[in-house]
Amino acid sequence: MNEAVQTSSSFTPRVFSGIQPSGGLTLGNYLGAMKRFVDMQNQGAFQTVYCMVDLHAITVWQDPEKLRHATRELCAGFIAAGIDPDKSILFNQSQVAEHAQLAWIFNCVARMGWMQRMTQWKDKAGKNQQNASLGLFAYPALMAADILVYRATHVPVGEDQKQHLELTRDVAIKFNHDYGVDFFPITEPVIEGAATRVMSLRDGSRKMSKSDPSDASRINMTDDADTIAKKIRKAKTDPDALPSEADGLQDRPEARNLVNIYAALSEQPVDQVLRDMGGKQFSQFKPILSDLAVDKLSPISTEMARLMQDPAEIDRILGHGARQARALAAPILQKTYDIVGMISAR
Ligand code: AMP
Ligand code: TRP
Repeated sequence: MNEAVQTSSSFTPRVFSGIQPSGGLTLGNYLGAMKRFVDMQNQGAFQTVYCMVDLHAITVWQDPEKLRHATRELCAGFIAAGIDPDKSILFNQSQVAEHAQLAWIFNCVARMGWMQRMTQWKDKAGKNQQNASLGLFAYPALMAADILVYRATHVPVGEDQKQHLELTRDVAIKFNHDYGVDFFPITEPVIEGAATRVMSLRDGSRKMSKSDPSDASRINMTDDADTIAKKIRKAKTDPDALPSEADGLQDRPEARNLVNIYAALSEQPVDQVLRDMGGKQFSQFKPILSDLAVDKLSPISTEMARLMQDPAEIDRILGHGARQARALAAPILQKTYDIVGMISAR
């Protein structure tokens, strides 16, 4: 081991997570990610670092003006949902160059075969992989860099990111092994709660996604009360009543999805929801769900709209967050360079 490098096996408890500014926020992002980011911020057990990953967004084409708008809107969403820039570090990825710098090192640690196995790569590149961007292929190495440039120990995400987090662990293990150090933590994914996989309102076998062509498939965080109510009213269901136990949701993906959404929004376990709602028809349950959704989401969308009226203030918050993020990331990148054998500027 290189004596000049200080390494440690006990890492500061630190949470990192990111969301792409590639379109609007959905209920899936809110329940699967953002709401849980807020909980972890407020628990007080971790230092919390949250990022708008604009470098990830451009792995597929983004119109520049729309990207800028989506980044500010995402920042407004974070704050409206309860992220406090005085408690958490909140910033956009491209302002902290250390992410891209560490990603290059990880491009040289990770193997082609690891990337080729990623299901998100296969889904997003589709049949025409030759025409996908190199960035889309290397996406998980940048994600590993996002996390490890802070030596984050915990990463809250939705279920769809599990494989990327396994790859992050593989990168840390291989780096530590190749250089004979104990420098990067083996990050814990935090995939918990009823809403780690919120499904489309039109098809219970598909994830609710901002890129779904059908707007009726998702609830957007900017939807007004009438739109939310209409989308829930029209959500696909089956003809049966709700069961009173979770077993009864097997093979009923649409029913399970609406129950999970209710459980997550009301912060109750699914079992409790079914004890209360079991026996109800969807014609009775949907209005109850819709009232709850409007109740929880409309204050957030109202606050987002208010914050968006002052983009200069959002940019100021992002600049402040980036300075804090850089202060953490720069020494970790510097140590990484030392470990790898780069000569630093004197
Ligand atoms: P993205 O919008 O792809 O950048 O995702 C940001 C975060 O939201 C990640 O942690 C995702 O796992 C989570 N997420 C996205 N869609 C869903 C969904 N339908 N259900 C649960 N979590 C989701
Ligand atoms: N890949 C994540 C997504 O699409 C976004 C992301 C980028 C992320 N870097 C991250 C999530 C680091 C957690 C930690 O949802």
